Amino acid sequence: MKVNGKNYKTVWYESKTNTVYMIDQTKLPFDFDIKALREHKNTAVAIQTMIVRGAGAIGAAAGYAMAQAFVENSDEEFVKNAKKTITETRPTAVNLFYAVEKVFEAGKTSVENAVKAAFEIAEEDERYSRLIGKYGNELVKKGDKILTHCNAGWLAFVDYGTALSPIYSAADAGKDPFVFVDETRPRNQGARLTAWELGQEGIDHRIIADNAAAFYMNRGEIDLIIVGADRIAANGDVANKIGTLDRAIIARHFNVPFYVAAPSSTFDKDCPTGKDIPIEERSDEEVLYYAGHTRDGEMTEIRLASPGSHAFNPAFDVTPAGLITGIITEKGVFKPEELIDNL
Ligand code: MRU
Repeated sequence: MKVNGKNYKTVWYESKTNTVYMIDQTKLPFDFDIKALREHKNTAVAIQTMIVRGAGAIGAAAGYAMAQAFVENSDEEFVKNAKKTITETRPTAVNLFYAVEKVFEAGKTSVENAVKAAFEIAEEDERYSRLIGKYGNELVKKGDKILTHCNAGWLAFVDYGTALSPIYSAADAGKDPFVFVDETRPRNQGARLTAWELGQEGIDHRIIADNAAAFYMNRGEIDLIIVGADRIAANGDVANKIGTLDRAIIARHFNVPFYVAAPSSTFDKDCPTGKDIPIEERSDEEVLYYAGHTRDGEMTEIRLASPGSHAFNPAFDVTPAGLITGIITEKGVFKPEELIDNL
C-alpha cells in the first residue's frame, strides 16, 4: 500500500543480508520509520514489543525470524532454541505458530528451504488479503457506513489487510465507503493505525470513542461491521482485540450484520472452542498511561489513572460463533460453523 505516494509492505526480508525490515508501528502515526533487524533475536523482540503487530504481520515476521535463525546457524540445538524464543513472544495470534512451524519443518531439509518457506508465508498472506477484499467487497453497498475495531488493515498483514481490504476494494469500485474507526483502548490501534492507514488511502472516516458504537447503531447509522481475527477456533468462535465481543453483542441487538475477515492461517482447527484460545494479558501500564504528541508536536507520556491504582489488561476477547453473521476468507464468505469443512 502507499505511504506518501510510495509502495510499502509492513514487513519484508532481504535474504542476501539476512535482514528483516519492518515499519515501526510504535512510532505511527507521528513518525514513519523502518527498522532493520539483523538477527532472529531482534525480530522476536520486535514482535513482543509490538513494533510489528496484527495477526498476519506477526506471522510473516515470525516466519522470517525462523528463517534468519537457520541462516545464522543451522545446528539443531540452535534452531530449537530460536523456535522457542520466537513462539514465546505473543500467545494469541495463531499465525505466529503456523509460520514458525512451517519454516522450522522446511528448514529440516535445508536452509534454502527455510528461507523459501518464509517467503511463501508472506506471499500467501498478501494474496489471501487481496482475495478477502474481493469477497468482502460483495457485501458492501454504495455509500455504506462501516464500523471497524482495532487495526486489521495492511499494517496488521503484509499488505491490503483483512477487515480493511473489502473497504479498499469497495473504494476502488467507486462505492465511497465511510468508516467509523473505534479508537480501541488501551493501545489505540484504531485511532493511531487504522485512522492513519485510511488517511493515506484517502478514505473518509471518523474516529469514535469505543463506547460510542451503540449510540451510532441505535441511530441506524452503521450498515455493517467488519473486524479482523487473531485466532478462530474449530467451532467458529473468534478471538480478536478486546472490545470486539461487546461490538458483536450490540450489533445483534440492533440487527447490524457483523462480519469477521481472516485468512485460513488464522483458523486453528486443533483448538476446539474459544475457551481453549490463550488470551494475552499485557502490562497494566497500557491502561494507566497514555503516550502521544502534545499540541506542539512533542512526544510525551501522561498518567491517566488515579496514582496508586493498578489495572487489568486482557488484550483479546472471544466472540461466540452465534453472534457472527459470516467470516470473509480467501475462499469466500462462510457461516462460522461452515469453516471446518471449507478451510
Ligand atoms: O495486539 P495486536 O495489535 O497485535 O492485535 C491484533 C489486532 O490488531 C487485532 O486484534 C486485529 O483486529 C486482528 S489481527 C489482524
